[in-house]
Parts: sequence; structure tokens; C-alpha cells
Amino acid sequence: MTDRITIRKPDDWHLHVRDGAMLAATLPQTARAFGRAILMPNLAPPVATTADAIAYRARALAALPKGSDFVPLMTCYLRDDTDPDDVEAGFRAGVFTAVKLYPANATTNSAAGVTDYAKITGVLARMEKIGMRLLVHGEEVDPTVDVFDREAVFLDRRLAPMMRDFPGLKIVLEHLSSKIGVQFVRANAPQLGSTITPYHMEINRTDMLGWGIKPYFYCMPIIKTEADRVALREAATSGDACFFLGTDSAPHSVAKKLALSGAAGLFTAPLAIELYTKIFADDGKLDKLEAFCSLNGPAHYGLAPNSATITLQRRPWTVPEHIPVDGPDERVLVYRGGETTDWQVLT
Ligand code: NCD
Ligand code: ZN
Repeated sequence: MTDRITIRKPDDWHLHVRDGAMLAATLPQTARAFGRAILMPNLAPPVATTADAIAYRARALAALPKGSDFVPLMTCYLRDDTDPDDVEAGFRAGVFTAVKLYPANATTNSAAGVTDYAKITGVLARMEKIGMRLLVHGEEVDPTVDVFDREAVFLDRRLAPMMRDFPGLKIVLEHLSSKIGVQFVRANAPQLGSTITPYHMEINRTDMLGWGIKPYFYCMPIIKTEADRVALREAATSGDACFFLGTDSAPHSVAKKLALSGAAGLFTAPLAIELYTKIFADDGKLDKLEAFCSLNGPAHYGLAPNSATITLQRRPWTVPEHIPVDGPDERVLVYRGGETTDWQVLT
């Protein structure tokens, strides 16, 4: 059995780190193992213009440990009234890497997201023209659609027509969560690529709801069935170019996670690359780990992979229960905190 593996430094193509003390506490957890990350701050109000993103990027860089060469990549939070000229200017200036589409009210701080798809066609046409990626939270938020079917309905109702209308627009379907989604991505590659989180490959809805409700397994898109979990795991470990790493690590205060209406999002950054490595190792697919973590993402974005490498070693360690945060949010509980896991990055 392989006990050690060296891969090109991975990137996280889907990351939430917030702002202020939370940003300072959480971003270093990603920078310890990843070369770059697509940041989706999900703030209220959102990072929605080039000026917002320049300011946010400066705050992210200030949150990094001294000497870190980690590169934060900015996204534009798409709204009904987003200005195509500002999007293009931000992209050409190297401020924006991509645009993120949240259907309004699909998830944490998405209230300012898209309410009318007819209003964003100008931005999408411009992005198609300039070769800018669209990142999609692919869930249909309609009270008549079951929460477990939100992804499937979105693919039919929104994403398929969008891909037909803008065939030159490269899209990432974020945090893929269903077997139907896996089939859809395969059928629509290479225009479409998709990130897969570690937790959608580890747990199913029985784990979340079957033995007491587990708020720390609650995220959007909601964790689905065992068949979905298996399909996602097979997709990621296939090494196929349309699937790549995006942790969706999403810190929230304990108070927000344990409220009567609890916040969606799981904080995985302290063990993210270790979780992926364990998944690939347990399935006998370590030979595909580098493609999924370090090569397929940059290729979909039209970027070069990192030239540095990281080495992971199989050895047991205990996941910290929480990460301290200065100020009123005080701490963030970690996914699988307190459990023992068996891969670790060598520093
Ligand atoms: C994310 C967050 O907390 O920002 N939450 C989540 O459940 N995944 C937002 C998102 O990606 O949906
Ligand atoms: Zn997310």
C-alpha cells in the first residue's frame, strides 16, 4: 500500500473565508496546502464590483501568513443589475477571475443573487465574448421544488438553456451533489466542468438525519442519497477532466450553525486536502489524485498548473475541534473535528 504521495500543489476552486476576524482565522488553513483558491466571500453586501474586489483582495492578502505565496482569485457576485462593462474591466485588469451566479435565496447570503435570468443575458454574452468563466450555484429555488431535487430541476430549467444560448461560455457547476448531476456534467463537457466537495463524497442524508439531526452535516446543496454519494465518488476518482477540486469550505459561528434556522456550510479547510487524499486512497485511486486536485481545474480555467509540489503521508492525526476566531464569533467548529484521520501534509 502506498503511504506517501507527492503531487503538484493543488488549488481550491471553491472557497468561502468571509471577512475580518473570520477571514484572518480561516484563510491560513487553506494557504497551508493550496496554491490558489477561488474566493466567494458571500458577504452582505456582496463583493459585486471591480472596486469591491480590489479592496477585498487586499484584505485577503493581509490575512495570509508572512512569506506565503498563496494567490487569492476573485469572483464577481452576479446580481440582476451587474454592469457588463465593469465585469469586463475587472477581468481585463486581472482582478476578477470569474463570475459567480447564486439564484437568490439558494444559500448563505444569497439574497442579493439573481432573481430574473432575463436580466443577466448581457453579462453572460460579454463573458462568452471575452472568455471569462461562469461559476454556478446550480439549484432551483422554488417552493414547489423539493429541496433534494433543486439541483436536477436547475439543470433542466436553467443550465441547459443557458448552455444552448451561450455555447462559447465556459461554466463550472459548483459543488455537484447528485447522480443526475454527474451524468449532466459528463454529457456537457468540456463546455461544462464541475467541482466536487469532500463531504458530498463522504456522507449521505441518513448520516445527516438518521441518528439525530447533525447541523454540522448541513450545507447547500443538501447532502443526498447513498447512490448520489457513490456516483460523485466515482466521478471524482475517475480523474476525468470535467471534475475537479472545490472544497466549499464555509465557516460559520457556532451560534449561526446551531440557531433555530441554522446556517448552511461546513468548514473543512483544516483537513481538506487530507480528506480528498483519504477518499482516493481508500478507493485505490491515488494515481488519479493529482489530476483531480491539481490539473483538471487549471485546465478548465485556461490557467497553468502550479509548479510547486506537496507531499502527503499516511499517518494518524486528530482533527482539531475548532479554529479560534478573535472577537464575537469566537470559534468555528471543524468538519470531523475531534476524529482521527489518516493522511497529513508534510510541511
Ligand atoms: C456556503 C456558504 O456558507 O457561504 N454554504 C454552503 O452550504 N455551501 C455557500 C454555498 O456555496 O452554497
Ligand atoms: Zn460554496
